[in-house]
Amino acid sequence: MTRTTPVLEIEDLHVRYGGSHILQGVDCDVPATGVTALLGRNGVGKTTTLRAIIGLAPRTGRIRLHGREIQRLATARIVRGGIGYVPEDREVFGGLTVEENLRLVDPERGVDAPVVERLFPELVRRRGQRAGTLSGGQQQMVALARVLLRENALLLIDEPTKGLAPKLVTEVADVLAEVSRTTPILLVEQNLPLVRRIADRVVVLDAGQVVHRGAAAELVADVALTRELLGVSMRREGAA
Ligand SMILES: Nc1ncnc2c1ncn2[C@@H]1O[C@H](COP(=O)(O)OP(=O)(O)O)[C@@H](O)[C@H]1O
Ligand SMILES: [Mg+2]
Repeated sequence: MTRTTPVLEIEDLHVRYGGSHILQGVDCDVPATGVTALLGRNGVGKTTTLRAIIGLAPRTGRIRLHGREIQRLATARIVRGGIGYVPEDREVFGGLTVEENLRLVDPERGVDAPVVERLFPELVRRRGQRAGTLSGGQQQMVALARVLLRENALLLIDEPTKGLAPKLVTEVADVLAEVSRTTPILLVEQNLPLVRRIADRVVVLDAGQVVHRGAAAELVADVALTRELLGVSMRREGAA
């Protein structure tokens, strides 16, 4: 097996908020292909890890993108350097149309960009609709489309299926699977059937540290381990 350089290398990453030591020395690599799922119970530091990578949380340690250190760069530089971030709360502009939301990122093409036409035909049909009146799933598509209008070396995507109906979970999963054929993704996701379907690897956090790394299929197949690490059993989870 050939080993390629990871797209992202994280070493001894710490985040402190006031007196709270949230990330306590996270170490992990994100390989240059496929989906790496970042898992763990609520409150263990998954969102904080993504925010630290993109420069939105105060961090120490070392983060390398394609071998270059980025831990001291501002968010705008990191984004220009090729990391796309879709936050948990999606942050679409509800008062703007789908078209206007996308043109904020890509004034020339917006909804007419080939990637939007290919992956999000529904958004093309709804281009004139205010984003605030879209369903949660459609808003997630806007948030995803917005980052995909740029060339990304890596995508950070935080709980994209949270609160979505099962049919839309499947649609979002399909889009992520398709995107991951060309762009590596670090994905925070609670839906284990979805993780099993689209993730290659998992990194599990607990109390601000990495407690498990391995193949996604192996973790999901191990009922005792998923219960121990994630506190869930497969049966409770929805469709992927
Ligand atoms: N801006 C902040 N200020 C203080 N504490 C925070 C802040 N953001 C997150 N935390 C705390 O950090 C911990 C990890 O949060 P988070 O990374 O959002 O967890 P997860 O995404 O794994 O559910 C939680 O205890 C949360 O309350
Ligand atoms: Mg979170």
